[in-house]
Amino acid sequence: MIKAIRGTRDILPPSSAVWNGVEASAREVFRTFNYQEIRTPLFEETVLFARGVGAETDIVSKEMYSWEDRDGTSITLRPENTASVIRSYIEHRMDQWVGVKKLYYMGPMFRRERPQKGRYRQFFQIGAECIGSESPLIDAEVIELVVEILERCGVEGAKLLVNSVGCPRCRPSFIETLKASLQAVKGNMCEDCQRRADTNALRVLDCKVEADQPVIDALPSILDHLCGECSTHFATVKELLEARGIAYEVKPRLVRGLDYYTKTTFEFVHGALGAQSAVCGGGRYDGLAESLGSRVAAPGIGFSIGEDRLVMTIEEARGGETAAGPDLFIAPMGDAAQKHAAVLARDLRREGLVVEVSSDRKLKRALETANKTAARWTLILGDDELAAGTYSLKAMASGEQRSVKREEIAPAVKRLTAPVAVQS
Ligand code: HAM
Repeated sequence: MIKAIRGTRDILPPSSAVWNGVEASAREVFRTFNYQEIRTPLFEETVLFARGVGAETDIVSKEMYSWEDRDGTSITLRPENTASVIRSYIEHRMDQWVGVKKLYYMGPMFRRERPQKGRYRQFFQIGAECIGSESPLIDAEVIELVVEILERCGVEGAKLLVNSVGCPRCRPSFIETLKASLQAVKGNMCEDCQRRADTNALRVLDCKVEADQPVIDALPSILDHLCGECSTHFATVKELLEARGIAYEVKPRLVRGLDYYTKTTFEFVHGALGAQSAVCGGGRYDGLAESLGSRVAAPGIGFSIGEDRLVMTIEEARGGETAAGPDLFIAPMGDAAQKHAAVLARDLRREGLVVEVSSDRKLKRALETANKTAARWTLILGDDELAAGTYSLKAMASGEQRSVKREEIAPAVKRLTAPVAVQS
């Protein structure tokens, strides 16, 4: 049997309906924040991610799906989309477009991680990038955008963690301080940390190895080493979050696993996710465009929500609730009724109803199917009904059956399907 590759999976109904709902909600929120969609290719030149995300990161050094194309170019399946969006920004001279550029995307990303609950090799992100402003107002608005999406999707209990990772003016001296402190303790740390203590000391801070955690907790904090500008920026972001009533926790170790960040970094974590608790990650990347060859500055900030994890929290909160069945199940008895049912179904679908037509000629079996598919109404159509020009409509929940005329079908079905109005 040929199976889906490890770390990839099929999204099947009824779960696919949750995925569609999440995407529709996100699109709706993006629209109200004036974001527009960008679709970038699923594969890019490897050098884009090596330079953008950083050669020393786990993503680039261990997790990319890369291959050499026939012309010798090294190509990589995108492990994330921020570098691609900035590549596109530079390529299409978006700096010349009017105003701040607000772009969103949704689609698959690829990382060769060890698969486990909430961690896949093909996973999906819903993300956005806001390019062209250094203002902390944008940081707060981008974080608010995530809050709104999570809320619209019905996610409760996500916690916001924020930090500042400084800028090229203040970070180098912090890294030197960190390196100096690491020399004394690195001998007790994991192999990766021992190497990173010299090559990329900041990465030590997001090491996940349990035994290393107390050592890391005792290392110097970046927040004590920010320059005046970064420190004011961070203070303003926090104030703006407070003004919006958005709760947050400052986590000085939150350096994130990608090298392009400057100033604000953030994550949303959710308890229902277990070890892979981050449902969204993001931050500011004021120097990324220049490191990818842009001659003009393009400061930006963005986030990516892990859609697989978002759907998981929603499904866990809902429990085993199954998807809704069709509004109406038509059970035609006989050839003439079958032909009539096809036309009737077409017309009712045009009126917006979800209609299923039985291909079973036995009434008992058709009704059984209607029950199993959780149809809300069944319309029985036999020779007698055809001759009389009436239809027998059965409410499946109550079992109540009544005779209706053609024009009464849609209103009756819609009345039951429509949400119940709140009485004032
Ligand atoms: P990231 O933290 O690498 O950031 O990924 C963002 C989110 O994608 C994570 O919080 C997680 O929910 C989800 N995710 C990552 N890897 C996996 C996986 N293997 N399986 C399932 N879900 C996963 C970025 O990708 C940045 N581009 C975010 C960003 C946008 N920063 C600025 N703009």
